[in-house]
This record gives sequence, structure tokens and C-alpha cells, in this order.
Amino acid sequence: MDLILALDVDNRADAQRLAAQTADSVDLVKVGLELFTREGPQLVRALRQDGHRIMLDLKLHDIPNTVAQAVRSCCGLGVELLTLHAGGGPAMIEAAVRAEEAEGNGVKLLPVTVLTSMNAEQLQAIGVARSPESQVQLLARMALQAGAPGLVCSPMEVETLRQQHGTQPHLVTPGVRPAGSATDDQQRIATPAAAKIWGASAIVVGRPIRMAEDPAAAARNIKDACR
Ligand code: C5P
Repeated sequence: MDLILALDVDNRADAQRLAAQTADSVDLVKVGLELFTREGPQLVRALRQDGHRIMLDLKLHDIPNTVAQAVRSCCGLGVELLTLHAGGGPAMIEAAVRAEEAEGNGVKLLPVTVLTSMNAEQLQAIGVARSPESQVQLLARMALQAGAPGLVCSPMEVETLRQQHGTQPHLVTPGVRPAGSATDDQQRIATPAAAKIWGASAIVVGRPIRMAEDPAAAARNIKDACR
């Protein structure tokens, strides 16, 4: 199981420093909206040049043609994983998959099912009466049928998704917290060891590493818990 570090900082120097500090135990670094909207594609290229493998977490969600063009741009950046919102629907995901295949760089497109910060109450507020688990299952089935090679979901949903879809899908799970650490704004969480037992392909961890007094040691401890 890979450890992906969320580089949720707001500048290039901090991002490169944190990535370098933790490189021994971290498998991929995740560039998300906060960093990408400040530092852009140049930072992604710089991290690649530093030797890092990259998950680009842009959670694309737009009409199919726009998402397809954005996927083409992202494929040129040398990233390994790219996220989009499953809520964009099958036509959007199919267009994204076709765009990725046309580029041929082997980027794994990962539709995000239900954000790990959402609970039943928040789903209801956007008109979804199903439980988070059942909504994840519905979106997962749709996204995999539309050709996505994997998904982003909470660790708590991985076991069921493995039963329903087997070992093939690349299941990446944020919402991971070592035992005893703060949950922050995450709602559907589990420990790294539980995520592994349930069958996650990779876990995404941000604050428990970034905010630690010694980020390198925190990353090492989490990686050890994943073995
Ligand atoms: O600090 P923390 O470990 O909560 O960071 C989790 C990271 O994973 C954040 O960058 C967040 O944007 C991302 N993420 C998430 N839930 C999803 C998809 C991505 O928390 N469903």
C-alpha cells in the first residue's frame, strides 16, 4: 500500500521542502487545489524534476468536453494519478477516460465518490437521501462502468468495494488518521493499518504529517504501520 503525502501548503518552497524531508517513507506527493492555484503546473514539473511521483488532486467537475481538455493538459505534466468528481456523471468520466487514452501517458483517473468530509446530514443538504456508504457504492459502480481504473473513497468503504469490484480498481483513501491524532474536518476516518487490512491501494495523509513536530518521523511511523 502506497503512502501519499498531501502537500497542502501555499508555496513552492514549503512544498519542495516537505516533499524532500519525507521522501524516504512517502511514495507519492499530492498536489491539491490550494497549491496548484498558487504555483501552477511549474510546481508540478519542479516536483517531477526533484524525482517525486505525483497525484494531482484537482477534482475536475465540468461538462465532458471541458474536463476532457483539462485531462489532456494534466497528462502532459507527468503525473501518475489525477482526480475528478464522480458526481460529474458517466458522460464526463467517459470523456475523461477517452482523453487520457488518446494522450497515452498511463495516468490513472480517479473519480472521487463522496468527500471524506461529508456525512449523512451534509449529503441530505445537497438532496442526497442515501447514506454515504450507499452513495459511494452507486457512484463507484457508475464510475468503474464508465471506464475509470480506480476511485477515491473513505477507508471505511474499501472492504465493500473490494467485495463488489475485486482486486483490480486502484482505491485511494484520504480520511486516514493514526490512532490518537486529531480528526480535523474529516468525518469518515480510519487508521493506516485498518485501511491496509480493508484493501486500500494507497492512503492519503496530510495534517498528521505536515503539522507534526518532525514530519519525517511522522511519515516513517505511518509507513511502518502500513507494512
Ligand atoms: O490533512 P488531511 O489528511 O485531512 O488531508 C487529506 C487530503 O485529501 C486533503 O488534501 C483533501 O483535499 C484530500 N481529499 C479528501 N477527501 C476526498 C478527496 C481528497 O480529504 N474525498
